[in-house]
This record gives sequence, C-alpha cells and structure tokens, in this order.
Amino acid sequence: MELFEALAKRYSCRDLKRVEIPRGDLEKILDAGRRAASGKNIQPFSFLVLTDAKDIEKIATAQAFIAKASAIIAIVADPEKSPYWLEDISAAAQNMLLAITALGYGCTWVEGTTLPKEPEFKDYLGIPQHLRLMIFLPIGQPTGPGSQKQKKSISTMVHWQKW
Ligand SMILES: Cc1cc2nc3c(=O)[nH]c(=O)nc-3n(C[C@H](O)[C@H](O)[C@H](O)COP(=O)(O)O)c2cc1C
Repeated sequence: MELFEALAKRYSCRDLKRVEIPRGDLEKILDAGRRAASGKNIQPFSFLVLTDAKDIEKIATAQAFIAKASAIIAIVADPEKSPYWLEDISAAAQNMLLAITALGYGCTWVEGTTLPKEPEFKDYLGIPQHLRLMIFLPIGQPTGPGSQKQKKSISTMVHWQKW
C-alpha cells in the first residue's frame, strides 16, 4: 500500500479477529518502528512482541478488546537515556501503525487504559521498573471495514507564512 493511502486508511481498529501473523510481517512492522526519527538518534526504546494467548489476555485486563489481538507489540523506553524518550516512542508507534495498516492488519494505539497497570505489567513481563512501558499495539485482522475518526479540517489548523 502506498504511504498516502496508509495515512488515510489508518484508524483505531478495536474489532479484531485472531489470525496467524507471519513472523515476516511482524519483523516488517518492527523495522518500521526502528526507523523512526529519534532525538539525537539515541533511540532509547525497545520493542517486546507478545503472541502467547495468556500474555495477551493479561494485557486485556486493561481493555477488553485487546483479548482478540493476534500479537501485541509493547513499546518500552529508557527515560535515563534521552530527554526525548516520549517523542521518540511516539514516532516509533506512528511508524508501526502505518506499517500495520499497509500490511492490511488492524491496530489501536493503547496507552490511556494500560498506564494505570504499568507497574503490574512490567512485573508480569519481566521489564525492569525503571523503564517505561508506555504504548501497546494490539494487532489483528479487522472483522470488517472501519474508518479513521473525523479530523479537524486543514484550514482550522494550518497557518501559512504568518499566524
Ligand atoms: C497517546 C494516545 C493514547 C491512546 N490510548 C488509547 C487507549 O488507551 N485505548 C484506546 O482504545 N485507544 C487509545 N488511543 C486511540 C485514540 O482513541 C484514537 O487514536 C482517537 O480516538 C482517534 O481515532 P483514530 O485513531 O481512528 O483516528 C490512544 C491514542 C493516543 C495517540
């Protein structure tokens, strides 16, 4: 899928069907994350891939739809490595969402519902407590068509030359 098509087609898909995601597809998605812009190119992030049903069910205790994911990519940051860690993981997440869309899968950026359980999930997944476990990308096959939420029009957010 062409980039501008993926930009338009990406949406938060919460109606997922379990499918076998080939490892090659997961690797393409991870590579898209790896290639993201990063402050001073420090790349203070790591990705944890979950495919076991019991691990996926554990993360779904934060938000039910996640249980139907076929794989979850968790984005982990080391805030001690860079002051730009939050921007960096956000760039990596958006790159991965576009790659997931381009490959025909559905996904949602999950952060708000999982954050209250961050210490519990880090314990469960064996992630050191000083790292941040911020973003989960539950990936699956969309059960049907879906679309991006309505966005503000360009004219309400863009200024040319002067404010
Ligand atoms: C920082 C951030 C946190 C989010 N956290 C959640 C979440 O916890 N659960 C969820 O279902 N969606 C979450 N979302 C997805 C948003 O709800 C979604 O992107 C927004 O409603 C716009 O819809 P769209 O992605 O289809 O354009 C999050 C998105 C962002 C960028």
